[in-house]
Amino acid sequence: MSKISIPALAEKHAAGDPIVMVTAYDYPGARAAERAGVDMVLVGDSGAQVVLGYDSTVPVSTDEMLVLARAVRRGTETAFLVCDVPFGSTELSDAQAVETAIRFVKEAGADAVKLEGGSAPRLSRIRAIVAAGVPVVAHLGLTPQTATALGGFRAQGRTAETAARLVREARGVQEAGAFCVVIEAVPTEITQLLRQELHIPTIGIGAGAASGQVLVLNDLLGITEGHTAKFVKRYAALADAAAEAVSAYAEEVRSGAFPAAEHCYAATEEALAAARAELARR
Ligand code: KIV
Repeated sequence: MSKISIPALAEKHAAGDPIVMVTAYDYPGARAAERAGVDMVLVGDSGAQVVLGYDSTVPVSTDEMLVLARAVRRGTETAFLVCDVPFGSTELSDAQAVETAIRFVKEAGADAVKLEGGSAPRLSRIRAIVAAGVPVVAHLGLTPQTATALGGFRAQGRTAETAARLVREARGVQEAGAFCVVIEAVPTEITQLLRQELHIPTIGIGAGAASGQVLVLNDLLGITEGHTAKFVKRYAALADAAAEAVSAYAEEVRSGAFPAAEHCYAATEEALAAARAELARR
């Protein structure tokens, strides 16, 4: 399969073929996504929580995101690689946003960056990054980096005011040059209106049917412990499987059942004799 490009994504969108996106944060995650043949891999700043253990996406730094992004790049061949720019790395100015976006392209091999929000300053950032030659995926609806300002982690577009704002923001990000938009935690009917309005693909997460879907890899694999959002579907229970496997290992180490003969190297007669001779010298 050849590498997925923006025109290839646009073609899929025009043909009505769903676009599949999943997050990844390391080499094995990227390999799983690649083997599954997904169209887009997102190095989401959700990695701050699901792999780095922060309590939100806010603290993660650009340098930390770049480490994750480089590992994912090494595991990705055909999928289109999008990297989240973390909170604080684009807010100060268009120049700061361009500098951050370029770092993801040069230092991690990103094909595009994703920016949350559709306010006037965010549109200015999108324009500047696109003008610098870096493709942008926009992210509207529930934007975790600014969840506090949105009143918490709650669905957006459920009131007249937020629904109208979503429409304005969606038009805005498309006009600013985003080639794709992630829509998070938005009522299905509002997503349908946005899909009808926009010519760029919409990637939904908790937003009903869109041009495509994205899920957090650790959520879908069942690695994430504790509460997950309503829109998460688990396709495996790897956290349980991992805990069971480590418990079995610990039990076997304690009982002496591991390592067994098949996990051990055997010495040659010659090596054994030399070691014994060396011991006898003392
Ligand atoms: O950080 C992330 O994983 C995301 C997805 C939820 C879209 O932004």
